[in-house]
Amino acid sequence: MSLRTRLILLSSVWVLLLVIVFNVTIYFYILQKTTMAETRLLWNKAQVVLRNPETLNPANWGKPELLEEFNEPDILVRIIDTEGVVRASVSTNDRLSAYPTYYRSYNNSLMVNEFGIRMLFVQVPIREQGFQLGMLELGKSLNVVSEWLALIGTGLYMTTGAVLGVALVSGYFYTRVLIRPIGELLDTMNEIRRKRYFVTLSPRHTSQKDELGQLGQTFNDMIETLREQDARQKQFVADASHELRTPLTVIESYASLLRRWGSERPEVREEALEAIHSESVRLKGLIHSLLRLAELERGEEDFQARYISLLPLLQETIDRLALAFEREILLDAPEGSDPACLGNLEQLKQLFIIVLDNALKYSKTTVTVRCEEQGNEVLIVVEDQGVGIDEEELPHLFERFYRVDKTRQRYSGGSGLGLSIAKQIIERHGGQIRIESTPGEGTRVEIMLPQADF
Ligand SMILES: Nc1ncnc2c1ncn2[C@@H]1O[C@H](COP(=O)(O)OP(=O)(O)OP(=O)(O)O)[C@@H](O)[C@H]1O
Ligand SMILES: [Mg+2]
Repeated sequence: MSLRTRLILLSSVWVLLLVIVFNVTIYFYILQKTTMAETRLLWNKAQVVLRNPETLNPANWGKPELLEEFNEPDILVRIIDTEGVVRASVSTNDRLSAYPTYYRSYNNSLMVNEFGIRMLFVQVPIREQGFQLGMLELGKSLNVVSEWLALIGTGLYMTTGAVLGVALVSGYFYTRVLIRPIGELLDTMNEIRRKRYFVTLSPRHTSQKDELGQLGQTFNDMIETLREQDARQKQFVADASHELRTPLTVIESYASLLRRWGSERPEVREEALEAIHSESVRLKGLIHSLLRLAELERGEEDFQARYISLLPLLQETIDRLALAFEREILLDAPEGSDPACLGNLEQLKQLFIIVLDNALKYSKTTVTVRCEEQGNEVLIVVEDQGVGIDEEELPHLFERFYRVDKTRQRYSGGSGLGLSIAKQIIERHGGQIRIESTPGEGTRVEIMLPQADF
């Protein structure tokens, strides 16, 4: 069922319910009011009948003229004795006369509905000096009232039908006004999907302040995000192919050289083999970094957060790198502290390797690492006194393949992926990274990780 049909049905049913409740209330209110008025009239008439002393004497009850003066069309007046036998009765209405009677010792009134004709009865005990002698019963056939109520009933049925009709027709029109912008929005979205191109909706769909405007705006934001992601991905593929092509070209040209001169000139062979080997190593590292980055971005590696003591992990990484680079790295931490965080051991190890690797590659003297707790966080600072980075380069360091000085890269062999991997890892751990640097003096990398609350 379409949204529009649902809206029409829902609003019509709702209106119908309201009208039915309203009409039923009106009908019963009128019925109650008219019944009350008629009952009051009969009570008064009963009082008039009982005011006649003749009526109070059971000896007169057999006289046919006793009640004659109270005879009126559609009215019954009768006297019933203690045995329940009708002793005197006047009426021109057979239906009223035929209605069975019940002897009662208290004032009573009742309404009877027989074949659509309402009949009202009031019953009053006839008492003499405290003793009940019999009962006076007055009845009235409410022909006029019944006809009137039937008329009102028909009128109310008709208004209910008319209101339902109006609700359906107006629902048809107002839903058209309401649904039209959604339909247009849907058409535009479908067109965008068909063309497979990142087109945003025109301001006509986004400028309103209502939910539809918000829907359009959200759609545009989503398209914008997709466009950015697409551009980033294309850039990434282009950069990656470029980066992969460079070492492969070097390998290819050295292989040709080897083929041509390798057997005759040993020095050429040595140089070529050396270059092929180092470029292969670089290529392997590059591919490893690319895969790592892709994994992190896809969030594929299932992130099982474990409690990790950071000082032993840092010490292990420092020992490994100090040995590999044959350099001095100092670890400094407050006495007796045991900073820890919840995270992935492999990722954190890689993070420390990336930052330490940079500090070692881009400096020549001792590198210092400081690890301390700061409130709910752990601060890890890696400092070197190396070449430093220019201020305008700092914001780009976390971009993929970004290297400060492209010529420096050949010497260091870096791919420019380290810091973007580091940033991804830190973000997945809910931490932050900051780099301060003075060219020629050194670089300070600050990593903040949320502390494990144990
Ligand atoms: N401690 C540092 N001192 C000086 N420059 C740095 C330092 N750390 C990073 N840089 C600069 O930032 C750039 C980006 O660093 P990143 O680690 O992302 O790439 P890389 O070291 O060139 O390559 P990779 O780490 O992928 O092998 C580096 O090329 C380098 O120029
Ligand atoms: Mg690096």
